[in-house]
Amino acid sequence: MSIFSSDVSYPTEQQAYAEKVRRIITAFGKTAKACVVTYGCQQNVNDSQRLKGMLRLMGYEITETEENADFIIFNTCAVREHAEDRVFGNVGATKKLKRENKNLIVAVCGCMAQQKSVADKFKESYPYVDIVFGTQVSHRLPEFVYKRLTGGKRIFELELKNEKIVEGVPIDREDRFKGYIPITYGCDNFCTYCIVPYVRGRERSRAAGEILKEAKQMVDSGYKEIMLLGQNVNSYGKGNADGINFAKLLRMINDIKGDFIIRFMTSHPKDCTEELLDAMRDCEKVERHLHLPFQSGSDRVLGAMNRRYTREKYLSLIKAARERMPDISFTTDIIVGFPGETYEEFCETLSLIKEVEFSSAFTFIYSKRQRTPAAVMPDPVSRKEKGEWFSLLLKEQDKISKKLNNNLVGQTVRVLIEEPSPEEGFLIGRSGTALNIYVEGEKDLIGTFKNVKINSYTNVLYGTVVE
Ligand code: 5AD
Ligand code: SF4
Repeated sequence: MSIFSSDVSYPTEQQAYAEKVRRIITAFGKTAKACVVTYGCQQNVNDSQRLKGMLRLMGYEITETEENADFIIFNTCAVREHAEDRVFGNVGATKKLKRENKNLIVAVCGCMAQQKSVADKFKESYPYVDIVFGTQVSHRLPEFVYKRLTGGKRIFELELKNEKIVEGVPIDREDRFKGYIPITYGCDNFCTYCIVPYVRGRERSRAAGEILKEAKQMVDSGYKEIMLLGQNVNSYGKGNADGINFAKLLRMINDIKGDFIIRFMTSHPKDCTEELLDAMRDCEKVERHLHLPFQSGSDRVLGAMNRRYTREKYLSLIKAARERMPDISFTTDIIVGFPGETYEEFCETLSLIKEVEFSSAFTFIYSKRQRTPAAVMPDPVSRKEKGEWFSLLLKEQDKISKKLNNNLVGQTVRVLIEEPSPEEGFLIGRSGTALNIYVEGEKDLIGTFKNVKINSYTNVLYGTVVE
């Protein structure tokens, strides 16, 4: 597969910078190595694959270890405070590496770097950080590297102009059979706890033609799973003139010839339509799984979060999806301890997970993000108490997951065998309903679809291939 993600060419100016960097680093005498350290969500993983694509174009070899790298780039996440703390620690550790390798360049990018306060901190307190750049200028990496390598000043580039998406950025997909395709960038929802709209900017949808081209290229080169990505995939197409919304896009990708499956995330309940559920039902390549974050089971808290749906609306979506696809599975995101949430309101979250029976849930304790509306809301409940609620939630979800998993024993499901498992003799396969199943077999099965009979469940599901 071409290193370019679509036919629209990567800006020639950046290609020229990449060529100049290549000439400089080949003069080092040995192959220069670059390491990309990624934090956060799938969007960031995909962004890092594009960073690696550009680094390869510049002539760098990709390494997994920071110690032997000539270029280290930290692609960061700002969704919760904990992730930010880790980044400061890990970036700090490069000071020592710089003493050992005077050619080493250190860069920080992504959602955390986009915040001015963070960029200022790197500027003032981390003099060994060479380049800091935000989420909307990453395609200019060759330019930044060239300028710094040729003795230019430290680079701080945080422009957030919400301009047209730059297409054709080279991509280095690590997996040969499953890959991400971003369909929207940014977010316009402004949930009151969330920093994403501030650091990724306005929601912009890629042209359907670009997405289809990328999908077709992937299928033609043997990819078996395509994961469509966006902060809110359901609102795909807003602002595009062609009238193609997410439901229509799914149908168009489904029509690409080949043996592959389609997944997508994340869906926002306020934009999840019956038209979309119909498309999921009708498209045989679209998996029977919906990741639909509800965040809180209390209408008052949902209002304070600016989620723009009610518990009842959420439950009606679940019902509408189940009516169309009785075997569908749901996963979700939940925040515990949003400012002002009471124990009674938290109990409404507990009752909602029991009512829906999610196969799994990503659960978070509220983390205060500067500049967001929730940051100034009264937050009287202690961290300790939130921790106790959080444990209750985990316990309840664990019971539900166990029950659902036990119900699966004896069933046969189609899985895509994805990777070796930590357990000798087993591989990890993923079902259409997004469950991980330990499948007996050798590594040559990786990247193939198999029907697997689920034999048992003890913390994980175990199965064997059946013909
Ligand atoms: N605190 C805790 N969790 C958060 N999320 C987003 N912002 C915050 C925050 N400030 C969670 C939401 C979202 C997921 C990606 O991260 O549940 O769906
Ligand atoms: Fe954040 Fe809400 Fe946008 Fe998701 S939909 S990225 S939670 S603002």
